[in-house]
Amino acid sequence: MLLRTPGVYPPQDDTWLLAGALAQHTLSPLTRVLDICTGTGALALRAAAQGAGSVTAIDISRRAVLTARINARIHERMIRVLQGSLTTPVRAEYFDLVISNPPYVPAQDDRLPDTGVAQAWDAGTDGRALLDRICAQVPDVLAPGGTLLLAQSGLSGVDKTQVMLEEQGLAVDVVARREIPFGPVLTARRRMLAARGIITADQRTEEIVVIRGRQHT
Ligand SMILES: C[S@@+](CC[C@H](N)C(=O)[O-])C[C@H]1O[C@@H](n2cnc3c(N)ncnc32)[C@H](O)[C@@H]1O
Repeated sequence: MLLRTPGVYPPQDDTWLLAGALAQHTLSPLTRVLDICTGTGALALRAAAQGAGSVTAIDISRRAVLTARINARIHERMIRVLQGSLTTPVRAEYFDLVISNPPYVPAQDDRLPDTGVAQAWDAGTDGRALLDRICAQVPDVLAPGGTLLLAQSGLSGVDKTQVMLEEQGLAVDVVARREIPFGPVLTARRRMLAARGIITADQRTEEIVVIRGRQHT
């Protein structure tokens, strides 16, 4: 059972696609996992259940942090849940596995919401406001041989993520993909996204992917 608080992103298709990729990854008592943009803590809990030695979860939303802490308590898992932006709270630490399902939906403008549930999906006009920062920051907290598993939509530049991570010296591939129908947020933005050429006029689905980036040993 997972507590889902109003205003906190309920786990959905992208969460479960990333959980599937995580399940393919062998975790041991030596594995240090970082879950950036944890929401309810669903993925951090999966990592703990899979046998990670330590799990740290970060979210910018106070409500999400409280929810993830309660979920860790309900499941009797030791998860360190920190409030802050992306890797800022753990700048001096290293992790063997970093997982993230960040906001990636193209929005009306480049202003990022600082409250409310839209904070879970709005990511600037190109959907990359958080993805670009994750690509820039995560290699600095990856231990030698460490891995990043990152979820995103095909509407927000999978190629750019791959190039940015490769430029940081990571070996990159796509390890999971799924075509899903537009949810309410994309449905409401269809006209705007079509006008910008991000989708076609008759498009009703998006591809979500999990990108893996591996740090050399
Ligand atoms: C798409 S939800 C994913 C939640 C959860 N990981 C899941 O897969 O169900 C994105 C989460 O990112 C958080 N978030 C937004 N901006 C952030 C930032 N700058 N740093 C950390 N978390 C952020 C939101 O509060 C939200 O909980």
